[in-house]
Formats: sequence, C-alpha cells, structure tokens
Amino acid sequence: MADKKKEPRVRARPDTEILTRGFDPRLSVGSARPAVFRSTTYVFSSPESAERAFAVALGKVRPAEDEDVELIYSRLSHPNAEILEDRLVPLEEGATSAAVFNSGMAAISTLILTLCRPGTSVVCSVPMYGGTHLLLYEVLEPFGVKPVPVAAGDDAALRRAIAETENLRLVFLETPANPTLRMTDIASAAQAASERAERPLVAVDNTFMGPVFQHPLQLGADLCVYSATKYLAGFSDMLGGVVTAAGPELVAHLRSTRATLGNILQPDECWLLDSRLPTVSLRMKTQSGSAEHIVDGLVGHERIERIHYPGLFEDPEQRRIYRAQCDHPGAIFSLELRGGKQAAFDFLRRLRITKNAVSLGAMESLACHPATTTHSEMTPSQLERAGISQGLVRISVGIEDWRDLLREYTDALDAL
Ligand SMILES: Cc1ncc(COP(=O)(O)O)c(C=O)c1O
Repeated sequence: MADKKKEPRVRARPDTEILTRGFDPRLSVGSARPAVFRSTTYVFSSPESAERAFAVALGKVRPAEDEDVELIYSRLSHPNAEILEDRLVPLEEGATSAAVFNSGMAAISTLILTLCRPGTSVVCSVPMYGGTHLLLYEVLEPFGVKPVPVAAGDDAALRRAIAETENLRLVFLETPANPTLRMTDIASAAQAASERAERPLVAVDNTFMGPVFQHPLQLGADLCVYSATKYLAGFSDMLGGVVTAAGPELVAHLRSTRATLGNILQPDECWLLDSRLPTVSLRMKTQSGSAEHIVDGLVGHERIERIHYPGLFEDPEQRRIYRAQCDHPGAIFSLELRGGKQAAFDFLRRLRITKNAVSLGAMESLACHPATTTHSEMTPSQLERAGISQGLVRISVGIEDWRDLLREYTDALDAL
C-alpha cells in the first residue's frame, strides 16, 4: 500500500523520486512491485474506524497529519490509486497531490463539474481537443455553464476575457493546442486571474508537453490535466486521466466528485500506468529529439505549405511563449499540405510505418486528419477560425528510428 508514514526527507530529482516514492514494499509482503488490489470493499478494523473513514470521506472532518484513514470502497479510492497518485506528484513540478481518472475526458469533466455551476463561465483557449469542445458546448452549455472561447496565443484577448467575463469560475487552457500547436501564455493568464476580486482557477491541459517539458503549476496555474492515455501511459493500450494540483484541497474536492460520478481509474489500470511512469521522461525526450530531426528534414518540401511545430514558430509572440514555458518542442507536429483534403488523404494512405490512427504520445508513430476525425464536430467556420485546414495532417512521432520516418514522409510527399 501507499507509504503513509511520511518521514521528513530531501526531495530528489523527478527521475529518482519516481523510482523511490509512493510504495512501501513492507506493506505488500516485501514485493518489489505493488500487488494489484482488486477488492471492491475494505474490512474495517472497528466500527469506530468505519465511522471515522466515512466522516473524512464526506468532508465532515479533516484527517490529522499522518493519520491512517482506513479505505472504504474502491469507487472512492483503493491502494493502487493511492500508490499511483503519490508517485505522480514528483513528476509534476510544483504539485502536492494528484487524482486519477478512467480517461482524460473523465478528468476534464470531473474538474469542470466540480468547479462550475449553472450561471458560471469558463474562458477557454481554442482550438482544443474535440472531446473537450463537445463537453463544453454539447453537455455543459445546455446546463448553463457558458464557454467563452479565446484564440490560442491572443494574449490581449485572453486577458480581456479573464478580466471582463461575468461569474468566471475557470480558465481552461490547452497549450500547445491540438492540432495546431499554438501556445497560450500560462503565466499571463494566471496573472490576469489573480487581478480579479474573485479569482477564477486556472487549469492547463498539459497532455502534449507534460509533465516533462512544460510546468504549468510553476507558472501560476492551479491545476494540470492529462490524458494519461497519451505520453504517461505511452503504449496505446490503456485509457487514463490525471489531475495534479499545487494545493491538496482542490484534489480532495475532485476526489469527492469522482466518488459520486464513479470514474476513478481501476486497480489494474493504475498498476499499469504506475509501471510506465519511470520511462515517461526517457520516452518523451527521445520522441521530441526525433521529431526535431524529422521536421528539420521536411522544411522546404514543395508539397508542404506550412509546418506547425514549436521549434519552427515564426510568429515572435509564439516564439516568446514557447521559449518562456517549454524545455523542449515535443514530438507532435502538423503538416499543412498543398492540395487540401485530397493531398492529406493521399499522404496518409502512403504511410507504412506510421499508423493512420487518432491519439498521440505512443511508442509507435501515429498520423491523422483532424478536420475529418478528432475535430470533425467543429463547423467549417469554427475549423477555419481555429486554423484547422483540410490539408492539415497531425503526426505524433514514436520511438522508431527517425531516419526511417523522415524517409517515409519524404517519399509520401514526393509521390503526391
Ligand atoms: C489534448 C487532449 N486532452 C484530452 C484528451 C482526452 O483524453 P482521453 O482520450 O484519455 O479521454 C485528448 C485525447 O486525444 C487530448 O488530445
């Protein structure tokens, strides 16, 4: 089980902490890796302990520092979730706690449902992942939560929206944005939020860059959200979602909504994700390095109108944001091909190593046509405003040899 006896200790660097924290083999018969605790219910040591556990779970009392509150029922929490949540914290600079969910969308919807009520507003950067767009416009807006979209990278418009939106409860930024990679200035948004009398919370979907390349909590954000399905899990074989936060109260609040909605990550999935965490940084750095080589090799190809990639930003404002808030450019880029949808489809058809599939952050390279897949719920004018053209192909670079990928993309482009 999770090591609850928290001795004062010097915090090591994330790559070390991830291998040494959050799991005490003594609590699992000496096993070097945690067991999977599939039990749905937990036996109380006494009726008083059960009463206490429920009082804590319902927020009626606060547990004392280092108190060993007994587990209740696995929809609320379970040992594998506790272990995983403890081990996620050192990966996120500035985090004190984390909560795990059964998908990225579960994490995002739980976050918004916890913080927003009918009559409140969410300022959000656009473009954003299609599922988040659907959640805001198709599910939450009819319940009276108003999305206020702002074009990613338009800092003046973002600050104005944060200053002027009535009943603003949440600023939700996806940066870099899926699939155009446009960046939003997190520190500036956090500053604008703190200038309001009633400060809205700032949450960042850090799926594309984090937790290795971008550290939103250090830049003033309150919450970081991940589709753990992507880089955190890394193998296209499980769904998961994570929220990390600078303060424990927000996470306690999210866990309580999670218990009601029933969208905690299951024990087997927690175990799997836990085993992937020590290699997140290795994988992401390798993938980002490969993407840089590939993009360098593609620059200037006559069939490419434009490459969207943080390392190639031409807009000085985008360059400034990238340099200020990211350590590496990441492993996702989008190619805007001459010839629109037909060229994009022909390009995808010719790929053999890279799979024509949605999702990203996997060991294998993946490519898709956002306008007809991940972002197909957007209207033509929304797509145009968001800069998602019919010729746009999004590529997530895996860990194959980058020279093979570059050859494959160059050959596919040459044949168009
Ligand atoms: C940026 C971003 N956020 C959230 C999600 C949703 O994650 P999940 O598919 O794990 O629910 C995705 C999925 O592609 C995404 O790209």
